[in-house]
Amino acid sequence: MSLTPIGGRPHDDLCQKVTVAFLRERKLRHEPITCLTAYDYPSARLVDEAGIEMILVGDSLAQAVLGYENTLSVTVDEMLHHVKAVRRGVKHALLLADMPFGSYHVDAESALRNATRFVKEGGAEVVKIEGGEKRADLIRRVIDAEIPVCGHIGLTPQSVNVMGGYKVQGKSLSGVEQLMRDAVALDRAGVCCLVLEGIPREVAAMITAEVSTPTIGIGAGPDCDGQVLVLHDILNLTFAPPAKFVRRYGDAAELIAKAVGNFRADVKSQHYPKDEESYHLPRETKAGLDTVLARKQAMRG
Ligand code: KIV
Repeated sequence: MSLTPIGGRPHDDLCQKVTVAFLRERKLRHEPITCLTAYDYPSARLVDEAGIEMILVGDSLAQAVLGYENTLSVTVDEMLHHVKAVRRGVKHALLLADMPFGSYHVDAESALRNATRFVKEGGAEVVKIEGGEKRADLIRRVIDAEIPVCGHIGLTPQSVNVMGGYKVQGKSLSGVEQLMRDAVALDRAGVCCLVLEGIPREVAAMITAEVSTPTIGIGAGPDCDGQVLVLHDILNLTFAPPAKFVRRYGDAAELIAKAVGNFRADVKSQHYPKDEESYHLPRETKAGLDTVLARKQAMRG
């Protein structure tokens, strides 16, 4: 497949396909790994062509693009619709799909069926599953089915009702010990990478030093092997104040509002479209039409 860069940026130097093995190599070489979310074809292409190594179709799409209150409502079919669109735009990055709430909680058979759908129908290369040591057996079974798994511990948004809100995890001694047990259990289960979300920097650093799998932090400080952020957060497309760890790298809300406002004004003031933005009849058709109209006019007059 050959893709022309959307933004006109060359990507000859980005032609290496990112694999699961590549992530481990990066950890061993202490080279930071980058990951962003994408939920559709154009954002997938832009993120891929910018050289981001991992693209996650996160269940955060529930809030970011579907307008749900939290991530609990989004379904496997809704996720798959977006995973397929992103797949069509990704050439180099490793493509991860989030297993949504309910898709791996009922029993191992349905979890395996759903994970398989993300690979077979969606084209994902890795599935992400939230939860620590209590998910280790299930994760082992998914990996045994030849599907690489990304773990996700700490502030796991699918547990919002159990956690009583989106709270930083691992602040007490027992919380730190639990997180360490979670990380080690998932590492032993064979996860290909591990998202650490909303935990103290010190704990993320300890986990990163302890496990052989690459850690990808979000709100977990700078000592992780990589960092992930939600694309809509860094572009100011969330209609909400950003979390402490979010850095805004652009203002798409302002850009879109300005463009839409300018279109509206141009149409209202009849400055859009101009003649050069219109299609025209071929010369012969125009001449024929003029003759017909002139004849009609003469008959009427
Ligand atoms: O759903 C998501 O976008 C995520 C990342 C924030 C890690 O899980």
